[in-house]
Amino acid sequence: MAESMQGIKRTHRCGELSAANAGQSVTVMGWVQKNRNKGGLVFVDVRDRSGIIQVVFEEGSTDAGLIEKAARLRAEYVVAVAGKVEKRSGAVNENLATGDIEIIPAELRILSESETPPFPIEENSRTKEEVRLKYRYLDLRRPDLQRNMMMRSQVATLTRQFLAEEGFLEIETPVLIGSTPEGARDYLVPSRIHQGHFYALPQSPQLFKQLLMCSGYDRYFQIARCFRDEDLRADRQPEFTQIDMELSFVDVDDVIDVNERLLSKLFREVLGVEVPLPIPRMTWQEAMDRFGSDKPDTRFGMELTDVTDVVKGCEFAVFKGAIENGGTVRGINARGQGSMPRKKIDKLVSYAKEYGAKGLAYIAIQEDGTVKSSFAKFMKEEEMTSLVEAMGGESGDLLLFAADKNKVVWDVLGSLRLELARQMELLDKGEYRFLWVTEFPLLEWNDEQGRYTAMHHPFTMPMEEDLGYIDTDPGRVRAKAYDIVLNGNEIGGGSVRIYNQEVQNKMFEVLGFTPEKAQEQFGFLLDAFRYGVPPHAGLAYGLDRLVMLMAKEDSIRDVIAFPKVKDASDLMTDAPTAVEEKQLKELGLTVTVDE
Ligand code: AMO
Ligand code: AMP
Repeated sequence: MAESMQGIKRTHRCGELSAANAGQSVTVMGWVQKNRNKGGLVFVDVRDRSGIIQVVFEEGSTDAGLIEKAARLRAEYVVAVAGKVEKRSGAVNENLATGDIEIIPAELRILSESETPPFPIEENSRTKEEVRLKYRYLDLRRPDLQRNMMMRSQVATLTRQFLAEEGFLEIETPVLIGSTPEGARDYLVPSRIHQGHFYALPQSPQLFKQLLMCSGYDRYFQIARCFRDEDLRADRQPEFTQIDMELSFVDVDDVIDVNERLLSKLFREVLGVEVPLPIPRMTWQEAMDRFGSDKPDTRFGMELTDVTDVVKGCEFAVFKGAIENGGTVRGINARGQGSMPRKKIDKLVSYAKEYGAKGLAYIAIQEDGTVKSSFAKFMKEEEMTSLVEAMGGESGDLLLFAADKNKVVWDVLGSLRLELARQMELLDKGEYRFLWVTEFPLLEWNDEQGRYTAMHHPFTMPMEEDLGYIDTDPGRVRAKAYDIVLNGNEIGGGSVRIYNQEVQNKMFEVLGFTPEKAQEQFGFLLDAFRYGVPPHAGLAYGLDRLVMLMAKEDSIRDVIAFPKVKDASDLMTDAPTAVEEKQLKELGLTVTVDE
C-alpha cells in the first residue's frame, strides 16, 4: 500500500550525504537497491540519481515494527527514510561514495511498491539493449545512464551560459517547415488543411538562422532538434540535437575562436580536462593524404604513405593497373604486427573489402628480416627493398597496401588504420584530441545523380582564390567550410556563407538548379539577401556525439533518453504505428504498402 508524503520532506539526496553530516537528522527518498536481512538486522540500500546510502535497521537502535517493515522491502520499492547519519560502525565500503556512513532510521515509509523488474537495475548492465530499450524508463534508472543524462544537461546549461555571455541570443525556429530535398531525406508531415501538401521536419535550422542574420540578430544560437531520414549507425539517430549557432560580420577565425573557448570551458568544467588552445588545424587535403579520412583520429600515428612513385615501374598487375587508371598506391605500417597470423591478415583483407577494396597487398617483415608477402613474386627484389624503405619498414612490421582510385584507397586505408588501432589497443577514451579540418572541397561529384552536390550545403562560400575554377574545374574549388573533429568523430561542422548574389547564382548553376528551381526552393532566402545581408558564418555541433565522447560511450543511444533503434523505430512506444482510417481520410491520404 502506498503511504503518503504528508508531514515528511526530503532534506538530502542519498549521494549528497557524507561524514560531515554525522549526527544530523536527515530524510532521504528513493528506490530500494537491495536489502539484506540478517535476522533482527536489516541493511537497506536506498538509491536516487545522486547515489546510494545504506540504512541500518538494528535491534536496540530501531523499533521492532520498523525492522519488520524493512525486511518486507523488495528491489525498486520507493521509500522515504528519516533518521540520523552516523559514521559506520562496521567496515567502510570503499566502492560507495557514502561508504563510510549509514543512516540509523527513525521512520520508514513505503511510498510505492514495485513488481520484480525484467532486469536488474545496475551499472554496466549485461542485459540486451533491445530489452533495456523496451523498458527504457527502468533502464534510465541505471547509474551509468543517469550520469550520462546529468552530464548532457550540464553541457547544455554551460553552453547556454557561455553563449549568452558572448552576446548570443537564443531564438527558436520552426519545426514544421517546407521541404528542401538538398541534403539527407526529409521527414514529411502531411497537412490536413492543405491536402496533398506536406511540411518537412528541419534537417537543421540552416535557412532560418541565415534569415535571422539578415534580420540583424547578429549572434544566434539554439539547442535544436533536427530530423534526417537516413541510415542509422552508432553515431546517427533520425532525430538528434544540434548546438546551432550563426554569427554576423565574421570570418572563419572568429567562428573558430568562440568555439575553441566554448569547448575549452565545457571540457574544463565537466571533465576537468584542459584542451590545449589553439586547436590544431589541418586542410581537408592533408587529412585525406595523411589519414585517409576527413575526420582523422589523431590519438595515434600509422599515417598513410603514398608509394605510387616508388612502385610506378613494377610489373605487379594490381599496382600497375591502378596507376594506369589514374589511381594511386598507398600503404600503412602497422608497427610490430609483422608476426600477425595469416588468418588474422585474411580478416583484415575482408575488412578492407567491406570498404570497397578489391584486395589488400601486404608485406610482413619477420623478426629475422625475411619477408612474407602476397605479391613479392610479382616484384623485383630491389623494388621490394625500396618499397619497404619508403614505408620505413623494419623487422617485425606489417605493411599493408591498397591500389585503386584515390577515394577508394583513402577509404580503405583510413578504415583499416582505425581497425588496427582498435586491435592494437592504441585508443584511450580518456585522451581527447581535437582537430579543425578546413578547406573542404565545395562540391562532390554524385555518380547516381550525374551532377555535383554541395559537400556542406549550397550556401557555403567558395574560397576567394578558387573562384576562377568554378566554371572550368568545379571539383577543384575549396570552400570556407570547417569541421571540428574529436578522436576521429565529426562533432560539428559549419561554414562561411555566401552573401553575394552572383556567387550564389553561380553555385546554383553548378549544382544544376535552374534559376526558377532555385527561386522555388530557396526564394525567401534569396529575396531576403536583396535587402541588405551581412557577411555571416556559423557552425553546429552534434550535441549527442559530443556528450557521447565526453561520457566515453560508444553509441549516441547511451546519451539520449529515448533513442530509436537501427530501423528508426522506438521499441518502447512502438512508433511508428499505423493510424486510423479516419485520420488518413482527414489528411486526404491513401496508403499503399510495398510488400
Ligand atoms: P551538419 O550536417 O554537418 O551541418 O550537422 C552538424 C553536426 O550534427 C551532427 N549530426 C548528427 N548527429 C546525430 N545523428 C545524425 N543523424 C546527425 N547528422 C549530423 C554531426 C554534425 O557535425 N546547418 C549545418 C551547420 C552549419 O553550417 O552551421 C549542419 O547541419 O555532429
Ligand atoms: P591477385 O593477383 O589478384 O592474387 O592479387 C595479389 C595480391 O594483391 C593479393 O594479396 C590481393 O589481395 C592483392 N590485391 C588485389 N587487388 C588489390 C588492390 N586493389 N589493392 C591492393 N592489393 C590488392
